[in-house]
Amino acid sequence: MQFHQYKDKVLIIDFGSQVTKLIARRIRELGVYSEIITPKGLIKLKKFHNIKGLILSGGPSTVTANSFQSVPKDIFKKKIPILGICYGLQLIAKIFGGKIKSSKKKREFGRAILYKKNTSPLIKNFLNNKRSVWMSHEDAVVKLPKNFKLVASTKESKLTIIENTKNKIYGVQFHPEVTHTDKGKQLFKNFLFLICKIKKNWSATSQKKRLINEIKDTVKKDKVICALSGGVDSSVVALLINKAIKKNLICIMVDTGLMRKNEFKQTYQIFKKKYRLNVKLINASRLFLSKLKNISNPEKKRKIIGNLFIKVFEKESKKYKNLKFLAQGTLYPDIIESRSSTGSKTSKIKSHHNVGGLPKRMNFKLVEPLKDFFKDEVRILGKSLGLIKNINFKHPFPGPGLGIRILGNISQQRVKILQEADYIFINELIKSGLYNKIWQAYAALLPIKTVGVMGDTRTYENICLLRAVTSEDGMTADYFNLPKNFIDNISNKIINNVKGINRVVYDITSKPPSTIELE
Ligand code: XMP
Repeated sequence: MQFHQYKDKVLIIDFGSQVTKLIARRIRELGVYSEIITPKGLIKLKKFHNIKGLILSGGPSTVTANSFQSVPKDIFKKKIPILGICYGLQLIAKIFGGKIKSSKKKREFGRAILYKKNTSPLIKNFLNNKRSVWMSHEDAVVKLPKNFKLVASTKESKLTIIENTKNKIYGVQFHPEVTHTDKGKQLFKNFLFLICKIKKNWSATSQKKRLINEIKDTVKKDKVICALSGGVDSSVVALLINKAIKKNLICIMVDTGLMRKNEFKQTYQIFKKKYRLNVKLINASRLFLSKLKNISNPEKKRKIIGNLFIKVFEKESKKYKNLKFLAQGTLYPDIIESRSSTGSKTSKIKSHHNVGGLPKRMNFKLVEPLKDFFKDEVRILGKSLGLIKNINFKHPFPGPGLGIRILGNISQQRVKILQEADYIFINELIKSGLYNKIWQAYAALLPIKTVGVMGDTRTYENICLLRAVTSEDGMTADYFNLPKNFIDNISNKIINNVKGINRVVYDITSKPPSTIELE
């Protein structure tokens, strides 16, 4: 599907910071369309007429090295306002003749207090006197570049905000895009509306009509197949395509037997009966469980589940004639993550599998209507398509399902034990009003047994681990502080109701250093 050309936008040049995505999110949250491109992408860019602002992100490079990532100098002559963040500020300073020094003594990681030194439209309602901001840098600008003025300082870094008022070039050393910077969104608001003078032009719902029309234009009278998992992304994709082409959409639900208790069948009923989609449920649980027998290595499990899923889906798709398109729930973060700003491949931590990751060899053309969207925008779209709350606000669930939450060997019996424990945990979170405050929660079964005592009898049973995290996009996460009364009750509820568990533990690690899933 063609990338839609939005009218006005802000471009973010990604120098490889972990939090570049958040810049795009903040801008979209303010109602302005933003896109992320690599420095190479910027060099190739020919037309700038609809670009109303440029943001240079942070990144791991240093301008103190002999060679470093940069931008073509002529972007500063286009009269487009520019904001540099962290590395972006240092790059601007370097280009305009400032001095940058790497200093282990003066580096700042974490919170710092910012003090106002001069007025600027960039800091209106953001900085009246002082404000707490989030820093992550070792290099710092130590001499102002020509024609720039100082706006704000921290104790360690005198030139924390600088600006060239005439040419509308701004730089900040801290990260306004992260929530740890107090009122950071106000700074973006000032940049967008006071400096770039861009008008609000973006909301997820306003895109619904465009997406439906684009699907119609692309697919015409052909058929589309879609793997439906019942998660938010694939559900929204299915509803959107259904709105565009109705009966020519074929949804396949592959039940791996590794789903949450009751969830898959209920989802099937909802899509079949409520939304009247052309959906087929394939029960492949026996096949999955037999191939996973005696497999305890996490990567092997992931590969087996991913490959089997593809096989089952492929076999089913061959039953239909005139299938030309495959619909996928690819999101904007997937697109950003699949291209690196430096060209280097980050080391693989886990082989991800999801229903959107079907292989290229299937020889379909792709329909990816959500590829401009962040997860929360997908939920807004879901709401406007009438997607029921239970699905629209469901926590993310990994493609390999309970297969990577049963540590060690997987068996039908262990699946059942985990399904019951997970069911209780999630329902208790819903009942106590905590579910929607949490980004993702689940129960897992550890591969060890411990001794317990129940009714004067010794038990030797499984440990159930509970995990609940808050996160913005799954890239980083903090463990959720479950209230004491919830913790007190949940352990009893699980042990009293699930035979096979005699101990419940709560995971109190954040990501990093842990990951959200255990395998
Ligand atoms: P980790 O464990 O990498 O998880 O911190 C980050 C987010 O990704 C989800 N996850 C997956 N999602 N297929 C998916 O669709 C996968 O193979 C997969 N592995 C992890 C995880 O649940 C969390 O939301």
